[in-house]
Amino acid sequence: MAQQDLVKTARAMVAKGKGILAADESFGTIEKRFKSINIASTEEHRRAYREMLFTTGDIGQYISGVIMFDETLRHKAADGRSFVVLLNKAGVIPGIKVDTGAKDLAGYPGEKITEGLDGLRERLVEYHKLGVRFAKWRAVITIGDGIPTRFCIDANAHALARYAALCQDVGIVPIVEPEVLMDGGHSGERCEDVTTTTLESVFFHLHAHRVSLEGMVLKPNMVIPGKKAPQQWTPRQIAEATVRCFLRTVPAAVPGIVFLSGGQTPAEATANLDAMNRLGKHPWELSYSYGRALQDEALKAWLGKPENVAAGQKMFAHRGHLCSAARFGKYEVGMEAA
Ligand code: 13P
Repeated sequence: MAQQDLVKTARAMVAKGKGILAADESFGTIEKRFKSINIASTEEHRRAYREMLFTTGDIGQYISGVIMFDETLRHKAADGRSFVVLLNKAGVIPGIKVDTGAKDLAGYPGEKITEGLDGLRERLVEYHKLGVRFAKWRAVITIGDGIPTRFCIDANAHALARYAALCQDVGIVPIVEPEVLMDGGHSGERCEDVTTTTLESVFFHLHAHRVSLEGMVLKPNMVIPGKKAPQQWTPRQIAEATVRCFLRTVPAAVPGIVFLSGGQTPAEATANLDAMNRLGKHPWELSYSYGRALQDEALKAWLGKPENVAAGQKMFAHRGHLCSAARFGKYEVGMEAA
């Protein structure tokens, strides 16, 4: 894909009123999610669950792209169409998670490094042939006593940049995801500090690897206090700190920033994004690439039962429309009940 195609795809991923569905749970993560509704993680359950989400009637109105897991990419809907064909038909761009997970960083207790670079070019070439137009790589930064270390931040930023450069080389738009975890009792100020250092390092390495900023999408955490922090913030406080942090670290050449939900409830993730878009015009699109925040309510309505597919799709569509409203700063809490 030429540079102009990368830019076109990146812009389409952050089209107005739309965001990305992260449905790329690895085997371990989807098992955890299914356990919460008391069903086993069989291949058929995984396939049927993703089919329910992807065939939701109006998905193309609020979803620009879907991040899949390798197994899902190869699955078919009940009518025999591959998920790639089905998503394209709905106007949704197929994407794929290509990292192989965050593993313990040797020599640095409590910290992680994301693996998956070996053989990545070959895998990307195959994914492109299968119709994939964007990819995702997630780096994990943990806040704790004496961590994150500068070494861990730089090692992860370096890997993210190598991945991003490889993606662009084979015509795939990279979603660059450095996630500063919400786990723990740290303050919002500490999150802002760590997120700032992380993004500075990420863009330093992206530049060094000659990554085109116009042909990528950033997927960060919001600047938010740790889940166990005594002092929680309002959506307005989260929005102001997040936008301030990004204005200092994210070049305006990046077409869009799509947030992960990271353990926020669906309503919180929607309200926080909405508050950012209410602050006015920003240099980049501010959008969503939620996993849990888009799926939780649908998963609970579905419960693994074919007779609940319509109910699950209704919940998914409802949350999708609310997130879409948040893209314009037009979400209201009262809309939750509708
Ligand atoms: P959550 O929105 O559930 O954090 O998932 C998004 C994601 O893709 C994390 O890598």
